[in-house]
Amino acid sequence: MGNDALIWEEPLRDLLWESHSNALPSRKAGARKGGALGRLSLNCQPSHSQERIRLPSEMSDRELAFLCGLLRRKRPEKVLEVGVAAGGTSAVILKTLNLLGGKARLHSVDLSFRAYRRTECETGYLVAEKLPELRQNWDLRTGGSVDAFVDDIGDGIDFCILDTVHRLPGELLDFLAILPYLKNGAVVVVHDTQLHLIKPEFPTYATCALLSVVAAEKIIVKDSKRNEGVANIAAFIVTEDTRKYIANVFSAFMLPWAYMPSDQILSDVLAGMEKHYPPSHIDFFKRAVNLQCLANGADRKYETDEADEVFLKAEAPQAGHI
Ligand SMILES: C[S@@+](CC[C@H](N)C(=O)[O-])C[C@H]1O[C@@H](n2cnc3c(N)ncnc32)[C@H](O)[C@@H]1O
Repeated sequence: MGNDALIWEEPLRDLLWESHSNALPSRKAGARKGGALGRLSLNCQPSHSQERIRLPSEMSDRELAFLCGLLRRKRPEKVLEVGVAAGGTSAVILKTLNLLGGKARLHSVDLSFRAYRRTECETGYLVAEKLPELRQNWDLRTGGSVDAFVDDIGDGIDFCILDTVHRLPGELLDFLAILPYLKNGAVVVVHDTQLHLIKPEFPTYATCALLSVVAAEKIIVKDSKRNEGVANIAAFIVTEDTRKYIANVFSAFMLPWAYMPSDQILSDVLAGMEKHYPPSHIDFFKRAVNLQCLANGADRKYETDEADEVFLKAEAPQAGHI
């Protein structure tokens, strides 16, 4: 983990399973077979002759390898996944944690009760379908954003995967809600960090924006299967500086938003922010919401403070800093 190289290729080779990598279909091969989803074959038993299961995940095999490699290195005790959909990645995480042999628990949250690609099924249905024996290690909460559930999940989270809406303010909000519950040294994996360049017609750069502005040690890796060899997944490690310079994340709320969260979600967001962040940051956030409304011809939502103060500054600026 102490690797400070910006480009770190090794985790992509770090498949947890002894699965013969040449037997893994590439994302393209998967797509040719009609499945747009990445798939990872898992050896459920140590012997290669054992039956292999297939888990459709929205991450490619190589992205899952990166995730599993980080799980193996970190050996976390409390994992939080935000954005579940069918539960393919949840199943891979559960299997990885199980193979690692610890007592780690996976907590997952999804806004939707139903899997968005198969609405007749409940969110996360693949876990019960493919790995029912691991269901007991999993707490799935659906029907709200992470703000609504994170108090209940509690602190001590040392590994987190953010894979939700990808549009601003999306993952910026998710991360701010989670940060107070993350341990220093926690690994935060962000998916689809290149999606807006892979599909330039969609403004899906929320994870890229978060990764870019957060003060943290970044793990940005190569993936030879991607354009220019840049992986569509990355991670960062939370340190005390992440908290000290959290104003960086608040300031990114002035980038254009692709959607306005519902009043219920905004109210959960503000309740969480009021517990954990300085009033000046919250005032700045409210002004950002108002400006996004103004830019889109909608009514202003919040009254803001009159005080003529600096909005965003580090909690404990060092000498020489402004
Ligand atoms: C890209 S899919 C997740 C894919 C999954 N991580 C995988 O790899 O298979 C995004 C999911 O995030 C959920 N979502 C969207 N906004 C959310 C929010 N604010 N909080 C929690 N979940 C959210 C959607 O309902 C959807 O199921």
